[in-house]
Amino acid sequence: MTSLSNKPLFNQFLSSLLFFHLLLIVLHFVSSSTAPVSSLSSPFAHSSSKVKIEEETKEAMALLNWKTSLHNKSQSLLSSSVGTNPCNWVEINCDHSGSVTHLNLSSYGLRGTLHNLNFQSFPNLLSLNLSYNSLSGIINPNISHLSKLSLLDLSVNQFTGRIPSEIGKLTSLHIIDLSVNRMTGLIPQDVGALISLSKLDFSFNNLTVSFLLLLET
Ligand SMILES: *[C@@H]1O[C@H](CO)[C@@H](O)[C@H](O)[C@H]1NC(C)=O
Ligand SMILES: *[C@@H]1O[C@H](CO)[C@@H](O)[C@H](O)[C@H]1NC(C)=O
Ligand SMILES: *[C@@H]1O[C@H](CO)[C@@H](O)[C@H](O)[C@H]1NC(C)=O
Ligand SMILES: *[C@@H]1O[C@H](CO)[C@@H](O)[C@H](O)[C@H]1NC(C)=O
Ligand SMILES: *[C@@H]1O[C@H](CO)[C@@H](O)[C@H](O)[C@H]1NC(C)=O
Repeated sequence: MTSLSNKPLFNQFLSSLLFFHLLLIVLHFVSSSTAPVSSLSSPFAHSSSKVKIEEETKEAMALLNWKTSLHNKSQSLLSSSVGTNPCNWVEINCDHSGSVTHLNLSSYGLRGTLHNLNFQSFPNLLSLNLSYNSLSGIINPNISHLSKLSLLDLSVNQFTGRIPSEIGKLTSLHIIDLSVNRMTGLIPQDVGALISLSKLDFSFNNLTVSFLLLLET
């Protein structure tokens, strides 16, 4: 009952967040086109704040987009925190510039897929923990766009399909846990490129290890 009553609130603050960012962008363009000459002396400051606002909007929109693709019940479960900025949500941490760095949605009862989570929108994400949910479908090769990712925990879900070989591009990974899913096929040799790994767990899937990977490690 509580989660149901929270749902409109969550949607409301997501929309107001988007509106706020769009407003900032509009204000930015208005103020830069009517700015007095003196304030034009620092074009770098202008363009970097514009980039920052665009990035935050992109991240907020990407999260909203994914959230609306999830099962209804999951959407209401994602309403645990209130605020106007995703950085203030319990399950999200940001860096000093307001960019999302940690996404911890472990044990949120999430049902749905990652298909609508646009990985390209989170260039500064360091950890993604979606363990202990009921997420299904494949792990999109575009996960390789999370180029700074250090921790990836998708364990205890219902993911299917192969481990994408593009995972080998995530060279900052320290921890990768895909255990207890329904993944099939060969473990890609590209995993051997993950030289920073301190923990790798692919157990409790239906995976096959290639002989060459065993030689490499
Ligand atoms: C979600 O809820 C809406 C009504 O609020 C309903 O029309 C829709 O079918 C539901 N979707 C799912 C996936 O349950
Ligand atoms: C992640 O979220 C769960 C609640 O879903 C919480 O119990 C846990 O402490 C969080 N972990 C971190 C590292 O923030
Ligand atoms: C993910 O979050 C759960 C719940 O907080 C925690 O038990 C688990 O250790 C986290 N995964 C990693 C790799 O830190
Ligand atoms: C994957 O990334 C490419 C760009 O590298 C993009 O064109 C494509 O739409 C993305 N696909 C998905 C499913 O996100
Ligand atoms: C595991 O995968 C193989 C093919 O990759 C398939 O033949 C087998 O039935 C699968 N086993 C389970 C328990 O899913």
